[in-house]
Amino acid sequence: MTDLGYDGRVAVVTGAGGGLGREYAFLLASRGARVVVNDTGGSTGGEGVDDGPACTVAREIRDQGGEALADTHSVATPEGGQGLVRAALDTYGQVDIVINNAGILRDAAFDDTTAEVLDPVLDVHLKGAFFVTRPAWAGMQEQRYGRVINTVSAAGLLGTAGKSNYGAAKAGLVGLTRTLALEGAAHGIKVNAVAPIALTRILTQSMAKREAPQAAADHEAEPVASAMTVDRMRAFVDRLAPALVAPVVAYLAHEDCPVSGEVYTVGAGQVSRFFIGRTKGYFNPALTMEDVRDHFVEISDQTEYTVPSDPGEEIAQLFKVIGGRSEHA
Ligand code: NAI
Repeated sequence: MTDLGYDGRVAVVTGAGGGLGREYAFLLASRGARVVVNDTGGSTGGEGVDDGPACTVAREIRDQGGEALADTHSVATPEGGQGLVRAALDTYGQVDIVINNAGILRDAAFDDTTAEVLDPVLDVHLKGAFFVTRPAWAGMQEQRYGRVINTVSAAGLLGTAGKSNYGAAKAGLVGLTRTLALEGAAHGIKVNAVAPIALTRILTQSMAKREAPQAAADHEAEPVASAMTVDRMRAFVDRLAPALVAPVVAYLAHEDCPVSGEVYTVGAGQVSRFFIGRTKGYFNPALTMEDVRDHFVEISDQTEYTVPSDPGEEIAQLFKVIGGRSEHA
């Protein structure tokens, strides 16, 4: 089998000045992609700007013989997203790949989740994916080719206390991923998501906060993996290299990517698919509140479940049950 390459494709990687995004940018560039390295260079909480991280990564890529452009637009505004895509088009003439990776944390107990900690998180993670992908979408439709990778999190898929803003933003990205997969299908555009687990400053800071609970009142960070003790995390941190997440993102960004609308969790080289299942459940055409109480175990039972690919398939499953039952009624 031959190695996978990008044959001059153009990739926009947001939040690529460090952490996971930096690894994505390096891997794509090393395989022939022209890469726009976007990053505002702020703190984990999103404060401040610094063009250093984006410029450094772009320079390092060029030093290794790759093609890269640094960009410091913020993904958190429509103007920022347009400016980023415009820079890619002006320099490279096309955008084939968008990796929505930029992220911040402003953790707080739900009681304390004021607009000040809610809005910036929704703006960067959730709206940021709209603001960057939309300007690139028209070109992808025209060229009948595109790859979009969104970054979700177990905190959104499974929930993590103290992260209602972040969890809601990340879960929202699952809906965006699945919807854009459907809208992009007719145009050769594939849209998928990854839920990474990697030792970056986000995880490092989260672990530090765990070890210093008195500092947890600070809104910056809460554990990425709240159920796992710091000791257990520490035993594995040297295995959680961000570079081991990059191959999955790179494959989803490649022409050969066989799927769209899917979510993969990846860390330390372990890759799995997350999916949304529907239990077989319980049906009663004269359903009462007491029926729900009395059949709750059956409703929740996971032994027989399906994974509907879209709302049509889910409704078809419902109609099958209703039809089957009425035939026998
Ligand atoms: P990181 O903090 O190293 O990287 C995030 C980057 O985004 C930073 O370089 C930051 O400057 C940049 N950024 C922040 N706001 C921006 C904006 N408005 N415009 C452009 N760039 C901006 O952290 P990490 O871990 O590499 O995070 C990457 C993504 O992975 C994030 O979306 C994060 O939520 C997600 N993630 C990471 C996990 C992990 O275990 N590290 C777990 C689950 C999700």
